[in-house]
Amino acid sequence: MDRPLRVAALASGRGSNLAALIAARLPVEFVLVGSDKARAGALAVATEAGIPTVSLHPRDFATRADFDRALFGHVAASGADLLVLAGYMRIVDADVVAAWEGRAINVHPSLLPKYRGLHTHRQCLEAGDAEHGASVHFVTAELDGGPVVAQARIPVLPGDTEISLAERLLVEEHKLLPAVVAAIASGRLRWEGGAIFDGLPLTRPLGLTDL
Ligand code: GRF
Repeated sequence: MDRPLRVAALASGRGSNLAALIAARLPVEFVLVGSDKARAGALAVATEAGIPTVSLHPRDFATRADFDRALFGHVAASGADLLVLAGYMRIVDADVVAAWEGRAINVHPSLLPKYRGLHTHRQCLEAGDAEHGASVHFVTAELDGGPVVAQARIPVLPGDTEISLAERLLVEEHKLLPAVVAAIASGRLRWEGGAIFDGLPLTRPLGLTDL
């Protein structure tokens, strides 16, 4: 590609992953940050960085699919090559997601396929796991179910709580997400009906040191 990768992001929350992505100063162009929450911190992060924003209110739409079509319509109109879900907390309509196959990634705070959905830190503690982690995966219609590209791991320490685990894991998420976006921007990681890294089909998740 003879121009920078165009990146759009969707986020529902404070936007620390988005902030880390921007702070990484990758050779990409951020074209849009969208949200389902008008007060999401992520929108303020984007505005501060001079990135266009859009927020739509789900209750203004008759159906979930109508909302998804409208928000993803903005993403498509932005000209994004890559869509990053950075703490976007809604399940997206399967047909809407399908249009982004291989062009959308999500960061999820667990070692997928363990603990899809919410409360991943609690689930990890309740299971007595020795290890916790974060995953970046390509987005499919299945919630947190698309092919995993990369993972970062942390040990579960004696006395860990949901809060302490989440805090330590967030530090890793903030490295992992920019590293994966960098690999896509450079062409090392691409999608051809499946994830390809350095010319070979990806058979297991990459670690930070591979990226
Ligand atoms: C992160 O832990 C992300 O993995 C999860 O929601 C959190 C979002 O945090 N899906 P932030 O909005 O990026 O600070």
